[in-house]
Amino acid sequence: MDSPCCSKTRNPFTGAEANAVGVHVDKVSKTYSGVSVLSNISFDVQPGEIFVLMGPSGSGKSVLLRQIAGLERPTAGSITVDGQDPSLEETRDRVRLALVFQAGALFNSLSVYDNLALYPREHRSGTEASIKERVMHALRILSVEDAAKKFPSELSGGMKKRVSIARALVMEPQLLLYDEPTSELDPVMSATISEIIATLKNEYSVTSIVVTHDRSLALTIANRVGILMEGKLITLGTPQELRDTKNPKLVDFLYPKIDLQNPRFKKLETQETP
Ligand SMILES: Nc1ncnc2c1ncn2[C@@H]1O[C@H](COP(=O)(O)OP(=O)(O)OP(=O)(O)O)[C@@H](O)[C@H]1O
Ligand SMILES: [Mg+2]
Repeated sequence: MDSPCCSKTRNPFTGAEANAVGVHVDKVSKTYSGVSVLSNISFDVQPGEIFVLMGPSGSGKSVLLRQIAGLERPTAGSITVDGQDPSLEETRDRVRLALVFQAGALFNSLSVYDNLALYPREHRSGTEASIKERVMHALRILSVEDAAKKFPSELSGGMKKRVSIARALVMEPQLLLYDEPTSELDPVMSATISEIIATLKNEYSVTSIVVTHDRSLALTIANRVGILMEGKLITLGTPQELRDTKNPKLVDFLYPKIDLQNPRFKKLETQETP
């Protein structure tokens, strides 16, 4: 049994040892065919921190996450994960990094079970029996154990999302990057995902970067929240600082109002049907 001093360093879901890593984003810009998508972004994520990125649709959140995951390289500036360039194979061999994609990114030709077992099998981490235990445990945590034999095409959007989070847990990551982990989920499952992210931080000190539109997730579990708008990091602060903000742009984004008198809709109402 772990002593109290060491219980913080073990993954509560898998028992794996942790070794949290920091992330350094330095003056990062990204352009596609000359069009600027990210502009001069800098921030640090401390080992074991939950860092949330919010922002309107199209503001560059997923693009930034892809640069941090090393799937693409910034046009200017640099990113390091545990001091190393995440796009290098050596870094990816050394640092266990998992990205939960916005659309799940499961292999359609593999069953859910085989999707989850792929990484530990490829890295020869454990016997088939121990891999099975890890895979089924992760599926149980996300309440999708019944889906083990199914194929991704047989799952609902929310189930795919949960399976892709379970796949990330099986990888026993030191750095977890989530792209919209609670979209397409009902409120109860969204709360469970928030608890999982917080538990991984509190008991295992995994470093998490979470892209989300889910204000309640951001304001309850984040250590710090960064807001991206039009490719720029316009603010960075604690959840409390965000709640207290008087910046009208941020207030409008965090607490949007529904305006039934909006002239745009009036125009629709009066349009004649053909
Ligand atoms: N591979 C690409 N090539 C060209 N443009 C891209 C590419 N990927 C993203 N973009 C553009 O970059 C901008 C930011 O996209 P991104 O996917 O990061 O938005 P987002 O903030 O994640 O939005 P959402 O909340 O809708 O997921 C968009 O204008 C998008 O069209
Ligand atoms: Mg996105």
